[in-house]
Amino acid sequence: MNKTDLVVVTGAGGFIGGHLIADLRRQGYTRLRAVDIKPADDWYQRFADVENLSLDLNDKQSCERTCEGAHHVYNLAADMGGMGFIELNKALCMLTVLINTHMLMAARQAGVQRFFYSSSACVYAAEKQTSAAVTPLREGDAYPAMPEDGYGWEKLFSERMCRHFTEDFGLETRVARYHNVYGPYGTYDGGREKAPAAVCRKVIQAQLSGSGEIEIWGDGEQTRSFTYIDDCLVGTQRLLQSDIREPLNIGSDQLVTINELVDIVERIAGVRLRRRYRLDAPKGVRGRNSDNTLVKQQLGWAPSTRLEDGMQRTYEWIYGEMTGQERRVVFV
Ligand SMILES: NC(=O)c1ccc[n+]([C@@H]2O[C@H](COP(=O)([O-])OP(=O)(O)OC[C@H]3O[C@@H](n4cnc5c(N)ncnc54)[C@H](O)[C@@H]3O)[C@@H](O)[C@H]2O)c1
Repeated sequence: MNKTDLVVVTGAGGFIGGHLIADLRRQGYTRLRAVDIKPADDWYQRFADVENLSLDLNDKQSCERTCEGAHHVYNLAADMGGMGFIELNKALCMLTVLINTHMLMAARQAGVQRFFYSSSACVYAAEKQTSAAVTPLREGDAYPAMPEDGYGWEKLFSERMCRHFTEDFGLETRVARYHNVYGPYGTYDGGREKAPAAVCRKVIQAQLSGSGEIEIWGDGEQTRSFTYIDDCLVGTQRLLQSDIREPLNIGSDQLVTINELVDIVERIAGVRLRRRYRLDAPKGVRGRNSDNTLVKQQLGWAPSTRLEDGMQRTYEWIYGEMTGQERRVVFV
């Protein structure tokens, strides 16, 4: 791909989109368009030499403006959050289908060469995730379909829409199923945060307040794998540039319990906290892990960041934000 071709990233004011723009810019892509519904001052990362647009991509005309002249589109915009958000806002999650529908239509109309869609491990069938000692999920495990209610159904539907836009209209689409991506410059409070950022915030709050206690959702024995943002960026771009039209896992296969995740953050912070378990809180499936056989075979990709190292960087950024030592960064 030519580095002077226009690349569009939607959801660029958010976590993964912000990092993706930063990474493309580092690699020397000279024509980048970053789009998000949030006002520009609220973006996690923003760059003066990038075309930054604040647009509501539920609206088809905004999607047309977004795709104008674009060669590659990374569509990462979504109204989403961690378990606390998606379990309580199913209609809002489903409405993201407007963004994905209108973006696909606009991309087709604009003659976009490649269209990337960020799906999720939430598409996997619930019955395959009932045990903490879960068998890692292979791409075929999304069917027969019984995904996460709301958010997962919308993701699965939009995956299929990508497939049919490819088959029927010749729009080249690429679909990643992200598994819990984490890192700095993302949401850590306000209700949309995910477990890694939430655990960092809670440990820091306990340290700063001296409460000595942390609240954990569920019994802490539910399992997950967590993917560091740098690994996610490599996998995402490799997938876009590949010939693989089927959805692929972009995830870590280092399975941990939430209690073990808390252990890691406690070690980073140098504290031990009393654990208070909230059994009625949203917890999601009992166990989830990524089977990376197919993605290794197809893309030669596997994550390389240890959870301990990625969490250290995430903790440090959140600590800086919470203690005012580092402000939300606007790069120029
Ligand atoms: N982070 C993860 O662990 C994870 C896991 C699975 C899938 N994903 C998917 O990856 C993508 C990016 O996730 P993220 O973690 O960066 O989330 P994020 O919430 O940080 O970023 C999404 C961005 O989309 C923007 N957005 C929402 N509605 C919009 C609209 N109508 N028009 C324009 N912009 C709009 C939001 O303002 C936000 O900045 C999403 O599609 C998400 O579903 C993420």
